Amino acid sequence: MNQFFSKKQELFIRRAFDLARLAEGSAVPNPMVGAVIVFKDRIIGEGFFKGFGMPHAEVNAVNNIKTDDRKYLTQSEIYVSLEPCNFFGKTPACTSLILKSKIPKVIISSIDKTPQVSGNGIDLLRQNGVEVLTGILEKKGNELVKYRTNYVERNTPFVILKYAKSKDGFIGRKDENIWITNQFSKTLVHKWRSEINAIMIGTNTARQDNPKLTNRLYFGKNPLRIVLDRKNDLPENLHIFSDGLPTWQITENISRTFSQTHITQIEIPFDDFLLVNLLKKMHQEKIGTLLVEGGAQLLQSFINQNLWHEARIFEGNKLIKKGILAPQLPVSQNEEFEIGNDILRIFHNQ
Ligand SMILES: NC(=O)c1ccc[n+]([C@@H]2O[C@H](COP(=O)([O-])OP(=O)(O)OC[C@H]3O[C@@H](n4cnc5c(N)ncnc54)[C@H](OP(=O)(O)O)[C@@H]3O)[C@@H](O)[C@H]2O)c1
Ligand SMILES: [Zn+2]
Repeated sequence: MNQFFSKKQELFIRRAFDLARLAEGSAVPNPMVGAVIVFKDRIIGEGFFKGFGMPHAEVNAVNNIKTDDRKYLTQSEIYVSLEPCNFFGKTPACTSLILKSKIPKVIISSIDKTPQVSGNGIDLLRQNGVEVLTGILEKKGNELVKYRTNYVERNTPFVILKYAKSKDGFIGRKDENIWITNQFSKTLVHKWRSEINAIMIGTNTARQDNPKLTNRLYFGKNPLRIVLDRKNDLPENLHIFSDGLPTWQITENISRTFSQTHITQIEIPFDDFLLVNLLKKMHQEKIGTLLVEGGAQLLQSFINQNLWHEARIFEGNKLIKKGILAPQLPVSQNEEFEIGNDILRIFHNQ
């Protein structure tokens, strides 16, 4: 049912979205969620979910209410960016909290696609006399939890392809280190690294570029690095093997072992199902988002096997004239942004 919501109600749910986004990078593969408790058009409590095992947004919002305002809880409404959970996981169910707190009205943006919840939270609240409105700015609410939705519906990480190409369509040259984009684009990529769980690269990129794949230009965490090394012969002094941060080395035969404990060696057949099987393994290890940072061969394999969800492609204003051609994407729908003199195009694979 299409519900009509007022501008004021939209303002409150937008506040919940903003709160949710404070957990960008720390929540995944769990969802980012924000909650705002409103009494007579005044926010009396607000909160967000910070990450695995932490109290949910609704709990933080209730706990955030000042003592003097607690008496209003029974006449307030709670705005939540995601349907409240109805099961006891790491923390008690938020539906129980809402019922116990006697909050009479709940306004929800997105339905939680987690199988145990998926509308059950709403049903439970309604059965207990709570007024529940759903679908407020639902598109934005769904966007906020897209990694989570993918995680529970498709059992694979949300795969984001990222690369930079020159104005004439090359991503680099063999045996030469060429930088294509400007410093702002570089900073943006480091921000993305802080928001995702893992980064993957191909063997040639590791050998030739020796990238660190860490987040050095933005605040927040570093992702796990995943590198293909079929023959198990990439040099041990590469940054990703020697800097002490976690790396998965994917190989066909663990003929060589590493003494460093931060390197996890994964032996797996390099057959047609390599990427599918790796994505399954990542999902088992709770990797909800994967950024594939090249090179051309690895990116093209993800594209050819249709194993990607989003592509973020920079176009620098340099001409390289010859070299390794950029991958070919089959879709045309995209958004375009100017990052200084670079162009960033974001493609969605629906
Ligand atoms: N502009 C950018 O954004 C960007 C980003 C990254 C890299 N680069 C540039 O790209 C160049 C490297 O690209 P590239 O295409 O030559 O190499 P790549 O994709 O990094 O590595 C290719 C190698 O990785 C392994 N591999 C890749 N995909 C595989 C798959 N699906 N299954 C099994 N093995 C797979 C294979 O190794 P084996 O043959 O040993 O099995 C393959 O030969 C460098 O010049 C680098 O500077 C540019
Ligand atoms: Zn909850």
